[in-house]
Amino acid sequence: MQSLIKKYLNWKAVIAAVLFLVVQVACDLYLPTVTVSIVDKGIVHDDLPFIWQQGIKMLVVTLVGLLGAAGNIYFASTQSQGMGKKIRLAIYRKVIDFSNQNLDHFGEASLITRATNDVVQIQNLMINVLRMMIMSPLMLIGAIILAFIQSPKLTSTFVVALALLAIVIVLIMKYAVPKFKSLQRQTDSINLIFREGLTGVRVIRAFNRDPYEQNRFDKANRRYAKTGIQAYTLAALMFPIMTFILNITNIGIVSLGSFLIAHYELQVGNLVAFMTYSTMILFSFMMLAMLFVFVPRAEVSAQRIDHVLDTKNTVRDPKQATVIPKDRPASLTFDHVDLRYKSGQKPVLNNIDFSAEAGQTVAIIGDTGSGKSSIVNLISRLYDPVNGNVLLDGIPVNQLPQSTLHQRFAITMQKAVLFTGNIRSNMKFGNEHATDDQIWDALKVAQAADFVKRAGGLDAKVAQNGDNFSGGQKQRLSIARTVLKPADVYIFDDSFSALDFATDAKVRENLYRDPRIQRAVTVIVAQRVSTIMDADLILVLHHGQIVGKGNHKELMKNNKFYRSIYNSQIKKGAAK
Ligand SMILES: Nc1ncnc2c1ncn2[C@@H]1O[C@H](COP(=O)(O)OP(=O)(O)O)[C@@H](O)[C@H]1O
Ligand SMILES: [Mg+2]
Repeated sequence: MQSLIKKYLNWKAVIAAVLFLVVQVACDLYLPTVTVSIVDKGIVHDDLPFIWQQGIKMLVVTLVGLLGAAGNIYFASTQSQGMGKKIRLAIYRKVIDFSNQNLDHFGEASLITRATNDVVQIQNLMINVLRMMIMSPLMLIGAIILAFIQSPKLTSTFVVALALLAIVIVLIMKYAVPKFKSLQRQTDSINLIFREGLTGVRVIRAFNRDPYEQNRFDKANRRYAKTGIQAYTLAALMFPIMTFILNITNIGIVSLGSFLIAHYELQVGNLVAFMTYSTMILFSFMMLAMLFVFVPRAEVSAQRIDHVLDTKNTVRDPKQATVIPKDRPASLTFDHVDLRYKSGQKPVLNNIDFSAEAGQTVAIIGDTGSGKSSIVNLISRLYDPVNGNVLLDGIPVNQLPQSTLHQRFAITMQKAVLFTGNIRSNMKFGNEHATDDQIWDALKVAQAADFVKRAGGLDAKVAQNGDNFSGGQKQRLSIARTVLKPADVYIFDDSFSALDFATDAKVRENLYRDPRIQRAVTVIVAQRVSTIMDADLILVLHHGQIVGKGNHKELMKNNKFYRSIYNSQIKKGAAK
């Protein structure tokens, strides 16, 4: 927490808030002394002009106090909101740069909770500190001194009251604080389930999993509510108990006070002022106690935020970046590469070894889960291999700055990703300088020009996730976006799966003829043999290992895996 505060505190706002607060507290503390003179001099001696004069004085002091309070609230809010804003930005910047390994580690739901709910906890603490928690000690000390001046003898009543209060606070905190801490953690699981439910809503419905999912949410929600009720009940219990103690104390003060008045040791005005101070003292003490609720809860949040901010990106830029020579032709090499997603687990890729040069197409075929997308992840350096090297244009990808690397490849993901906007804005993602003509050109290559024209041209709206387009259309738009980007390596991860055979063949034919693609290495991942038959190099992947390597003819001749895939698909095709 200290590090967050040190980094994101706006000292000017804090100092301003404290100064205004001092004004407010001073006014609050001064007011009862005016009451004393009104009662003891004005009322007792029936001096109306004096009462008026003092009354106006009270009004002025009250107004100044009000100004102090307003100023304090303004600066405290500025500070707390400003700090929240800065922390959220810091988290966002950090997370945007996270490698996939980092993202896997936290989980999206938890990252969202940390950037929202946890930041709010810190904001709450900040505003409470700048208002209540600085006010209470000032008020506590000031009021005790002034109460003592009013009547040293009456002050003894506080000793008992404050001791009692301290015990109550300690007891309540002991039970409430762990509850508040766990509340913060449970927010995560609620968000997780809610998010999964939302994103997976179609799947959930399709598989008739609604009751199961609802049950899961229900459970987490109930647990959260239960903890919340316990935590807040305990915290709220503090107030009635404190009021009770306050009232008892007041009875003590009045009894002792009237005794002292009867013996001419105290005046009525002093007693009235004393009671006001006693309320202030106990009230400040209560506020101070709240500190023990807010601080631990915010502490948990601060830790969770710190954890994100302190995380080192697992994929880092090299200290000394290598530059790719300008005329170096494109190439892609996997040099005995192993990949493991989580340490301790068995490798997902084993000894992957191949090489391709400019103008060549590498195809990867294999069943689901065989590791095809994992190979793609390594080219784009979403993950780093545990052994071996991936080389782009002859240079290991981990020796290139990520910005250079990202410029050098263009990818169509297995799951087409489109963004809210229009067709043009989505296409320009790959190449922001692209002209409309170039965009149409790329759309034609991807066989997407027709339906884009029908949808209303480059200005046609694209909804969130591109949901206003069909799966096949989304794939073709992603392919067009990929082609539009000048690159050394073009990657198509299962990008043809939602296309019918004829469109699939046409798109590939266009790709082979495209001059941009001819200068680059193309990687095509597919499950259909027909999609990859003409590739220069076909890798047959099985359980993360290359079990076949060669062109179609060679593999047909001497690879039983490839032959069996071919036969199963051709037979299926023939049966249709
Ligand atoms: N981010 C990840 N974390 C852990 N395991 C993963 C991750 N991504 C994929 N895997 C696992 O790696 C294996 C290969 O996955 P993948 O490369 O996506 O296969 P394919 O693309 O051939 O269907 C699978 O067993 C999958 O469960
Ligand atoms: Mg895949």
